[in-house]
This record gives sequence, structure tokens and C-alpha cells, in this order.
Amino acid sequence: MNLPAKHSVKGNTIFTVMSALAHEHNAINLSQGFPDFPIDSKLGELLLEASQKGFNQYAPMAGLPMLREAIVNDFKKRYNVDVDADTEVTVTPGATYGIYTAFTSILQKGDEVIVLEPAYDSYIPNIETNGAVVVPVSLTTPTYHVDWNKVKDAITDKTRAIIVNTPHNPTGAIWTKEDWDSLAEVIRGTDIIVLSDEVYEQIVFDDKQHYTVLQHEELRQKSFAIFSFGKVYHNTGWKMGFVIAPQALTNAFRSIHQFLVFSVNTPAQYALSQYLSQPSLPSVSGMMQQKRDHFLKLMEGTPFTIHTPAGGSYFQTVGYEQINDMPDMEFAQWLTKEYGVATIPISAFYSNRQDDKTIRFCFAKKEETLERAVEKLLRLS
Ligand SMILES: Cc1ncc(COP(=O)(O)O)c(C=O)c1O
Repeated sequence: MNLPAKHSVKGNTIFTVMSALAHEHNAINLSQGFPDFPIDSKLGELLLEASQKGFNQYAPMAGLPMLREAIVNDFKKRYNVDVDADTEVTVTPGATYGIYTAFTSILQKGDEVIVLEPAYDSYIPNIETNGAVVVPVSLTTPTYHVDWNKVKDAITDKTRAIIVNTPHNPTGAIWTKEDWDSLAEVIRGTDIIVLSDEVYEQIVFDDKQHYTVLQHEELRQKSFAIFSFGKVYHNTGWKMGFVIAPQALTNAFRSIHQFLVFSVNTPAQYALSQYLSQPSLPSVSGMMQQKRDHFLKLMEGTPFTIHTPAGGSYFQTVGYEQINDMPDMEFAQWLTKEYGVATIPISAFYSNRQDDKTIRFCFAKKEETLERAVEKLLRLS
């Protein structure tokens, strides 16, 4: 059968490729961004309780009201923002779905979308599947900050959206209030819509703050803010998330959502609503910072060059110029096969496969996993 491609990405995602290679070579998998430690047992108990209490049928299309209320209260508490549970919050089966559906609800054939690269790998196929055109803008290496002049130059009368991500995958960089102000300035007076991917919002280090687009009054009126329960409560396999957007954008989003999935896993929604409604929740940033710090300390003994320590997210980028000068894709495969540690080459996050000779480690792992991995890397010394 000859089926024309819907997007430009060929074959499997880099995460599938590297995880399969890790499996084949019995390597420690620090490539894909998923935790290998257990979830809070309370969350598991609540999932069981949900099923026993009869939360087993379709939930309302926008999400269980009790979960949307819990989200709104949590955002008021943590960010002091007012969100309307009925008209602005939609529960989704994960953030990737939220991103795809947000794009589908606003894009027409031929629209342009600015993507800051390196970028999470679902953005480009999501845009192209909707018949729109990707306009990549590279972040400035090695700090991976945004060059706002480049963004300004990339805007045309066809630009419909820009997708941004903080804390950032793959680099761990985080946006300041000034970044949001610059974005607001650059798109002021245009019809550009912002997709703000904030899946790591609760994973920010060194007493820094995450700024959500929802705190920016001007941008908030034209933004989808996209969140993932999986990333912050370490249950990525539940594939649960939510999208917050002003009413007009939420209506557009739901007009697609209702025919794509209609509603989202009910027991998981009940469990998350009860979990979020507890008077206090464990600090995700605190726990993840311990892991980042432990990993960075262990890595000091290896010949890798640590780039700026991750400001947030699950990820740390490193250079390997003291080891060899292979292209990063080759290096990551060589490291998996010869040294038993799987990582992700940063070129996989660029549409033109730009090679920064940089790889990404995921440190959202048990301490013993990180220790076993670095023990193998010490053989490179
Ligand atoms: C930046 C970014 N956005 C979205 C996602 C996907 O989140 P979810 O598992 O909730 O679909 C990921 C997962 O790695 C990510 O890194």
C-alpha cells in the first residue's frame, strides 16, 4: 500500500531507538525521561479506591469536576492565579495529546508555527500532520537561551503559533519573567497563539521559581498552558495531563477533544483529584534536586564536560569533547554498546540534526541506578 506520509519524521522516535538499544545491550537506560522509582503509595491506594467506589464509567468530556476544581485550587495556592474550572480547564490523556489537540484546534493548511530548537520531538510531526509549516529557530548554545531578534525575524503574516517549553527538555534551561516579557513584546499586535509546554513545572532547582504563562496577564489571553501529571507525580504510564486556556481557546480545543478521545480515564482522574486536594504535598523539586546534585557530583570523576547545571526538568546535558569527536548520534550508540549506558543525542531534537556534540542524561532515577551508570562511565577516564 502506498500511503503518503503525514509528516517529515521517518521511523521511530529517538526514545524508542535508544531504549531498544539499551535493552539489546543490557545497558542502564538514562535516555528516556521516565522515573524508575515508585510513585507515592497514597496515589496507588487512591487509584484502587476509585475503582472500588465505582468511578469506572465515562467521565464528563472536560474532565471530572472534582479534578478540575482541585487543579484550580492548586494553581491558586502555588501561583496565585485565578482559573475557571468550567470554562478554562480540560483534562487530557497526557501532555503530548494536549499539544497535538491544541495545534489541531487552531491550525489551518499553510499556517506557520515557530519552534524553538532543540525541542521535544512531538512538536514537529504534530504541526505537519495538521498541514502547517514548521519554522525552526535555534536556541543559542551552550546556554540554550532565546535570541529574540531571531524570533522576531521568523515571524511572517502566516505565523499562527509559537510553541515554548520551560523547564526545558532536553537542556534543563528555565525561563525567567523577562523571557515571558520578551515573548509578549515580540508577538504584540499579531494573532499569534502561544502553546506553553510546562510539563516540568514542579521540577525547578536552586530555589528558583517556575513562571507559568498563566501569571503573565497579557500572554495568558492568547495561550494554551499544557501540563502533565505523569511528569510531576512520577507516574508517566498513567498518561494524564490537562490544558488551561481562555474560554475561546478552550472551546476550540474541546471541539476537537470531544471527537478525538471524548473523555479521559475516570479512576485516574478520581485518584489525582483526591491526591491534589491533600493539605500538603511532598516537594517534587526538593526530591529531584537531590538526584540532580547526586548525579552531578558522581559525574565529576568522568571526562564529560557538564554544561550549565539543569535549572529544572529531568535532564542534564554534557559535552564529550575530552573523549572523542564522533557525531553525537554515533557517540550515544557507541556509549550504549561499549560502556553500557544509554543517553539521547541532542541532534535528535533539531529538525536539521544540528550536532552540538552534546548528549542528554535523564537523572530522574534511583540513586543506585545513577551510581551504577556512572561507575560504568568512570571506565572512560
Ligand atoms: C517537554 C515535554 N512535553 C511533553 C511531554 C509528554 O508528556 P506526557 O507523558 O504527559 O504526554 C514530555 C515527555 O517527555 C516532554 O519532555
